[in-house]
Amino acid sequence: MVMANTPQISDTFIPHSRPSLGDDEAQAVAAVVRSGHVAEGEVVGRFEKAFAKKMGVQHAVAVSSGTAALHLTLLAMGVGPDDEVIIPSYVCTALLYAVQYVGARPVLAEIAPHTYNLDPGDVEKRITRRTKAIIVPHMFGLAADLDRLLKLDVPLIEDCAQSVGGTYRNKPLGTFGEAAVFSFYATKVMATGEGGMVVARSPEIIDRIRDLKTYDQKKANRVRYNYKMTDIQAAMGEVQLGRLDDFIARRRNIARSYIHGLKSLAIKFPEDPDQHIYFRFTVGLNADCEPIIERLVDQGIGCARPVFLPLHRHFKMDGYPLTDQAWKTILSIPIYPSLADEAVNQVITRFISNI
Ligand SMILES: Cc1ncc(COP(=O)(O)O)c(C=O)c1O
Repeated sequence: MVMANTPQISDTFIPHSRPSLGDDEAQAVAAVVRSGHVAEGEVVGRFEKAFAKKMGVQHAVAVSSGTAALHLTLLAMGVGPDDEVIIPSYVCTALLYAVQYVGARPVLAEIAPHTYNLDPGDVEKRITRRTKAIIVPHMFGLAADLDRLLKLDVPLIEDCAQSVGGTYRNKPLGTFGEAAVFSFYATKVMATGEGGMVVARSPEIIDRIRDLKTYDQKKANRVRYNYKMTDIQAAMGEVQLGRLDDFIARRRNIARSYIHGLKSLAIKFPEDPDQHIYFRFTVGLNADCEPIIERLVDQGIGCARPVFLPLHRHFKMDGYPLTDQAWKTILSIPIYPSLADEAVNQVITRFISNI
């Protein structure tokens, strides 16, 4: 139903994503600035320890982004030329690039239709003797089918860029694979502007990443990187970590309002509302989502496709019908802790009047 000349409910644009930052983050950053130590230092160390504790793991290592986290994790796990790494096609290019950085071959897999996460059956068909790892993103805040993926007997790198604080069978995401990466980019569930973290089962992986992320004062020469997090970022990270449970509770509240407010429409909601942390609230239409995205944006509601372009499209490949279908029909509507109830209601009203 499209209503012509629908009156504007608000003149204020509701952004698609927004970090939830407040005075506590500002004060923590100001304290670092006043200390004069703005590069990697003791605040990063504190943030790593607090993050590891929250995840219930022994060690965590902070880096400059989620992409750097993926790159260094692949290197630390010994992935290189002649190896294959399985990744979904329905994901951002960071995964593709990280595999390409280490010279390995990305092998694209299909998603499961209801969760938009990797389909273990399809992954299994793509495993060869060269497969060195599977990168498993928990898309939009919902856990992938880890039970089945773990049975494939290939090392898993969990990509928790969109799912920090999420769980699977009551255990934190990031504690199932050989290693897990996180992103604290500005729009993510926890934001430090740019930033990332790696947790790993083996302390050797963490040690290798610590060595690789910084180039200075090393006796033995090898290729290393400057992938460090700064104390400024870590100061924000500490505060955001302390707010993580509240962030997720608020995201779930908003999701419940959306599910309630939009339930009369013939649209598909995310599965598993109790497990989901709703980094994105995805809405599956029975039609192309592009016109609705355009109309909603015109009317002040920030919406977007949750994946910019499936990876197989970059290679002009066919054979990913479920990914194509998801890309064509799924849009993501605003969800973040600072989204006020009034704005949530505006999104619902606008959505209903445009569908
Ligand atoms: C699933 C996934 N992995 C990795 C990344 C890369 O993280 P970053 O932007 O911090 O490099 C992203 C970023 O959007 C992502 O969505």
